[in-house]
Amino acid sequence: MDVMIEAQGLRKAFGRTLALAGVDMIAETGRVLALLGPNGAGKTTLVRVLATLLRPDAGWARVAGYDVVKEANALRSVIGLAGQFAAVDENLTGRENLELVGQLYHLTKPVRRQRAQEVLELFGLAEAGNRLVKTYSGGMRRRLDVGASLVAKPPVLILDEPTSGLDPRSRIDLWQFIEGLVTDGTTVLLTTQYLDEADRLADKIVVLDVGKVIAEGTSDQLKDRLGGDRLEVRVGKSSRFEEAVQIMSSLDDGATPQVDAPQRRISVPTREGALTLMVAARRLDEAGITLDDISLHRPSLDDVFLAVTGHVATEDAGAQPQPADAGRGGRRRTA
Ligand SMILES: Nc1ncnc2c1ncn2[C@@H]1O[C@H](COP(=O)(O)OP(=O)(O)OP(=O)(O)O)[C@@H](O)[C@H]1O
Ligand SMILES: [Mg+2]
Repeated sequence: MDVMIEAQGLRKAFGRTLALAGVDMIAETGRVLALLGPNGAGKTTLVRVLATLLRPDAGWARVAGYDVVKEANALRSVIGLAGQFAAVDENLTGRENLELVGQLYHLTKPVRRQRAQEVLELFGLAEAGNRLVKTYSGGMRRRLDVGASLVAKPPVLILDEPTSGLDPRSRIDLWQFIEGLVTDGTTVLLTTQYLDEADRLADKIVVLDVGKVIAEGTSDQLKDRLGGDRLEVRVGKSSRFEEAVQIMSSLDDGATPQVDAPQRRISVPTREGALTLMVAARRLDEAGITLDDISLHRPSLDDVFLAVTGHVATEDAGAQPQPADAGRGGRRRTA
């Protein structure tokens, strides 16, 4: 395994708020690592430490072999960063913004001109390239910002919520674009609150909550932690519901079914998947029970998120902090 980003025991406090409470993580070269987590989990703080914009209080991290503190300058030359909030200059045109980034990376004038033009075309901004950014829509700014991280073709891309604020079409375009870069060998670390995005793009997912890594693995590994699939049946109106519950209790390893009597739904976890489905269908049929529906569900990443964090993922990518969760003693930890 070739490691591109590695962090060990990273801690960062802001006053009494412990934003990173000892984070260990590894991102492999040429892969996509997604950092998932609710508002305030510490995603942006971790990104800013890795991008050398913040010094950790303790622990260490390396990107492409460079230490984030001791070799910050060299490190900056190998990463492209798109922060959570657009960092483009409103009073410049899109093209000027991109050329400025090229200058920061010490690209020669002809190279940065060419790269700016390429990025404008890639991100559907060719027409708007010579307009001031203050006339851009939110989605255009977001695209310009992500585009700016690519001007120097860095081997490592760090993208903090790259698709928040994009329309569905632009999101899919950006996903395809990221996939293309990764095929060409780029390593991508992105944060997201969109579970479908992590599911689609990430080779590995790291779930952060209150400054700690609470789960990690591939999307499939995380889903497997929930114990495989669920088999769900909806029992016909004229059939004996209680008997159907009995039969569903006798399947697989005898897992206790979840019963929703008013909806006439019964579901059980199953490790055998399709086999259990066939056994259930046969036994219910033999008992003369008719079904309105029978289906097998793979748990979604939403189910995983709910199981590991104890709350649903917010699809709100804004800066609004979550209200304190009284049941868990509040969302904030103090240092
Ligand atoms: N500069 C700062 N000063 C004080 N507190 C901060 C600062 N930056 C972050 N924090 C706090 O640290 C914690 C982690 O914030 P961070 O921005 O890393 O979360 P996040 O996972 O990126 O959240 P979001 O999904 O809302 O972007 C939060 O409690 C936040 O209020
Ligand atoms: Mg953030």
